[in-house]
Amino acid sequence: MKPIRVAMLGCGTVGREVVRLLREQADELAARAGAPVELAGVAVRRPHKHSDLGDLITTDASGLVTRDDVDVVVEVIGGIEPARTLLLEALKSGKSVVTANKALLAEDGPALAEAADASGVDLYYEAAVAGAIPLLRPLRESLVGDRITRVAGIVNGTTNFILSAMAASGSSYADALEEATRLGYAEADPSADVDGYDAASKAAILASLAFHTRVNAADVHCEGIRAVTATDIAAASAMGCVIKLLAICERTPAEDGVPESVSARVYPAMIPAAHPLASVDGAYNAVFVEADAAGQLMFYGQGAGGAPTASAVLGDLVAVARNRVLGGRGPRESAYASLPVRPMGTLRTRYHVSLEVADRAGVLSAITGEFAHHGVSIAAARQTGEGDDNGSARIVVVTHKAPEAALAATVDVLAGLDVVHGVHSVLRVEDLGRKGVAG
Ligand code: NDP
Ligand code: HSE
Repeated sequence: MKPIRVAMLGCGTVGREVVRLLREQADELAARAGAPVELAGVAVRRPHKHSDLGDLITTDASGLVTRDDVDVVVEVIGGIEPARTLLLEALKSGKSVVTANKALLAEDGPALAEAADASGVDLYYEAAVAGAIPLLRPLRESLVGDRITRVAGIVNGTTNFILSAMAASGSSYADALEEATRLGYAEADPSADVDGYDAASKAAILASLAFHTRVNAADVHCEGIRAVTATDIAAASAMGCVIKLLAICERTPAEDGVPESVSARVYPAMIPAAHPLASVDGAYNAVFVEADAAGQLMFYGQGAGGAPTASAVLGDLVAVARNRVLGGRGPRESAYASLPVRPMGTLRTRYHVSLEVADRAGVLSAITGEFAHHGVSIAAARQTGEGDDNGSARIVVVTHKAPEAALAATVDVLAGLDVVHGVHSVLRVEDLGRKGVAG
């Protein structure tokens, strides 16, 4: 059988593992794909670091992706450029593409999909979301006969590793981030992880697939974990909750003349300690998918790291190679629904608001009065302090579900009151459809 020749762009944490597995499993992969899958070349930035790959190494990525003897391009460089230009060149030259690059897909996925369609080739990207977990193929294929209503979970390994370490062993944020980077979980610029952008890119990809609608990174409300403190983690624990960075993609049915819409958001939130997501620790990811007929499905596994991610890349590579051998293509982009994306201000969640206030008579009622004034209903309010008129007290308010815009307006007003010395934190409380959230 004529071999399927693969050009690899990048050979770092993920790429090195792809090369290892391609070599170690060459015979089995050939049997599964229907033809040998061979490396034609590997493009990197600093060739001296890759001398073990001999003549395969090149710094001419553009030349590699258009070479006549290349059938498939695997991109594991990351970032927007030069990855975008290289992949568009590859697709235009008739090469199928496998990529792990969520940042690029969330920014310009439709352009890549259109280029793949124009050339009649494949674009696969299972590794872009949740590492080793087969999640995109179930959304694109297994669940394509159902109506997905929600996709929600933990999709960033680095931040989950950090939050787990802070909660379990009291690690500092900085130490935990350093360890996640050493283990190969973090992005080249780890601010993409800790500021939530990586999870937001993944949420855009998930929402696009689940709701047959183009959702890009700019459509996703995004907050990271930098502001989460040991005090917040203790406050969550006191409520029977843990803090996780969540990605939540939802479909909202048409109601009262407002058309059906979708939303996607990423933020740290308190979830009940009894919820299955609460026990997802370290670099593991877990995602719940809810669909009308299927009900609730949970996907769980290693969400980051070289070998787990390479597993997903190899799965795509074999699928693309099979398509080349047998003829035909995998699924194309499906964006026919074109549903509007709902503004964040209209979404409804519960909140945990922690304030430092003057410790004197009437303060609690002034604070709760502002919540009432903005139509935000309080589920519980607690004040701790010494009762000394010159002192400070801590007030914690937990609300019922309220619109984001109303809560934001309440907090703005509270921050300006004389009796409020500071707003410690505002955290969402998500029960993710489960009963029994504390507070
Ligand atoms: P690394 O930073 O470890 O590796 C990047 C590779 O790209 C390096 O080999 C680097 O070359 C090469 N490279 C960088 N710029 C260029 C360029 N201009 N031309 C050619 N080669 C270049 O990244 P990862 O392996 O961690 O991640 C790769 C992709 O996989 C990213 O899109 C990431 O988001 C995604 N991903 C990563 C996961 C992980 O756990 N690490 C999990 C899931 C997805 P050199 O070695 O010479 O510096
Ligand atoms: N930096 C990413 C994470 C890699 O920590 O989840 C996996 O996409």
